[in-house]
Amino acid sequence: MSIIIDGKQCAADIRTELRTTIEERRQSGRTVPGLALLLVGNNPASEVYVGSKDKACKEIGMNSTIVRMPESASEEEILRMIDGWNHDDAVHGILVQLPLPKHINEMNVIMAISPDKDVDGFHPVNVGRLVIGLDGFAPCTPAGIVELLKRYSIETSGKHVVVVGRSNIVGKPMANLMYQKYTGMNAIVTVCHTGTDDISFYTRQADILIMAVGVPHLITPQDVKPGVVVIDVGMNRLEDTSKKSGYRLVGDVDFQSVATVASAITPVPGGVGPMTIAMLLSNTMKSLERKESNR
Ligand SMILES: NC(=O)c1ccc[n+]([C@@H]2O[C@H](COP(=O)([O-])OP(=O)(O)OC[C@H]3O[C@@H](n4cnc5c(N)ncnc54)[C@H](OP(=O)(O)O)[C@@H]3O)[C@@H](O)[C@H]2O)c1
Repeated sequence: MSIIIDGKQCAADIRTELRTTIEERRQSGRTVPGLALLLVGNNPASEVYVGSKDKACKEIGMNSTIVRMPESASEEEILRMIDGWNHDDAVHGILVQLPLPKHINEMNVIMAISPDKDVDGFHPVNVGRLVIGLDGFAPCTPAGIVELLKRYSIETSGKHVVVVGRSNIVGKPMANLMYQKYTGMNAIVTVCHTGTDDISFYTRQADILIMAVGVPHLITPQDVKPGVVVIDVGMNRLEDTSKKSGYRLVGDVDFQSVATVASAITPVPGGVGPMTIAMLLSNTMKSLERKESNR
């Protein structure tokens, strides 16, 4: 039976560590980190995500503020709000919840955030820093996965990591992180996507398999080699009439069957998901520390 990688516990540990640091700062009269969250429109899922991020900040004593703008908000109004936060010393992290309404150019908005406060790690400056191995902000989900591997002492150096999915927020940064010449990385990386003819051919060669596609139960035991470490980023809703909500969340991996052959595996929910918010908090703390040390 494989080790179940408990993202919920790791995320709770990170939040406890941050709470202690923030409490110490508060008691000694030092600056406390602050996160500004922008929610445009009334997408119910975005409302939930922003609410959870705000709550997570408050629980660890981090300052946070949510600004809500109507669906009809103009790009100019959004850029003005971001510019204000860029110049606000009490704001160390800026997060614009995506997706934005159709009439807004998302890249213009991402580019308007100061790279020094871009705690989501989506600004091209931070993407570039990540690629060439400089210190910056890595996107929260891939950063959370690196942290999970580290906390479970899973060797990555010289291992073959196969990443399935190449989105800008998960797959691409994940792959770029894993081959960096640093401890907890230094892997040999293969990236698969919809242009890959026989995904199973590649996934069977993985020492560490990272799935980020959004297809429920794509991976079954015949797609992996025994002893593989499986990181499942997928969050897919499957209809389930036994649930009050009418659905249950499943990953890209058939957890029950793959857990019998893997050496370690993340569950869905409770694996990668909780780490994403924990890393957002951690990036915001890091932003303040970088500012203080003029990095
Ligand atoms: N746990 C978390 O905190 C968290 C955070 C972010 C995302 N997620 C979840 O992770 C999943 C991926 O998210 P995303 O934002 O990266 O999704 P995305 O932007 O839709 O990208 C999906 C990627 O998977 C590839 N793909 C799709 N179907 C495939 C298939 N059958 N075979 C091989 N490759 C396939 C796509 O290839 P092409 O590039 O060729 O189209 C694309 O690169 C989703 O379920 C999402 O909900 C979870």
